[in-house]
Amino acid sequence: MLNIAVLVSGGGTNLQAIIDRIREGSLPDVKITCVISNNHGAGALERAERAGIPSRVVSARDFADRELFHRALADALDEVAPDLVVLAGFLATIPPEVIRAFSGRIINIHPSLIPSFCGKGYYGLHVHEGVLKRGVRVTGATVHFVDEGVDTGPILLQKAVEVQQDDTPEILQKRVMEQAEWIILPKAIGLIAQGRVQIRDGRALILGNGE
Ligand code: GAR
Repeated sequence: MLNIAVLVSGGGTNLQAIIDRIREGSLPDVKITCVISNNHGAGALERAERAGIPSRVVSARDFADRELFHRALADALDEVAPDLVVLAGFLATIPPEVIRAFSGRIINIHPSLIPSFCGKGYYGLHVHEGVLKRGVRVTGATVHFVDEGVDTGPILLQKAVEVQQDDTPEILQKRVMEQAEWIILPKAIGLIAQGRVQIRDGRALILGNGE
């Protein structure tokens, strides 16, 4: 059984995709042991509650400084001791000590084809605004392992999505979620649960995929 902690900040549609895949039996070896939000008002918390998954909030607002917030986040994860940490729309920085403690065991979903439209400032709708501004014809989503950089870790899965001429950032965001994010995030978790992912020389390899 792969015990996962899912970290969220917002609506939680990616969390929902994981919950739904577990419920319908397509992720038989995966259990969400805890949902952690850095935002008291995150819709994802209601989704966790509806699914009967324990959740907690670790918000920077409740701490005097960043260091205390980071320590609380690290303590929360230590307590839960997950096999895998899944960042599903988690928009706070992960403390370096957590990245080191869970090296190779944190994945993130990003709403573009990395290395395009990623890094500092590219999160949520800003990514899709950037895509439309540049006029690219194809965008998508990426699941990658988290290292100490911003969106720089080994890429595990990517899926392309077409940009339409009359897209708004909101319309494009929805299409990228539906056609890419909600598919590749559960898929990545499934591959890891099956022990089919290895990181070698800074690249993520999928075993049994032409390997
Ligand atoms: C998703 O589009 C996710 O890819 C993005 O935030 C959204 C969260 O939606 N994450 C980032 O931009 C990380 N850099 P959700 O709360 O409905 O899953």
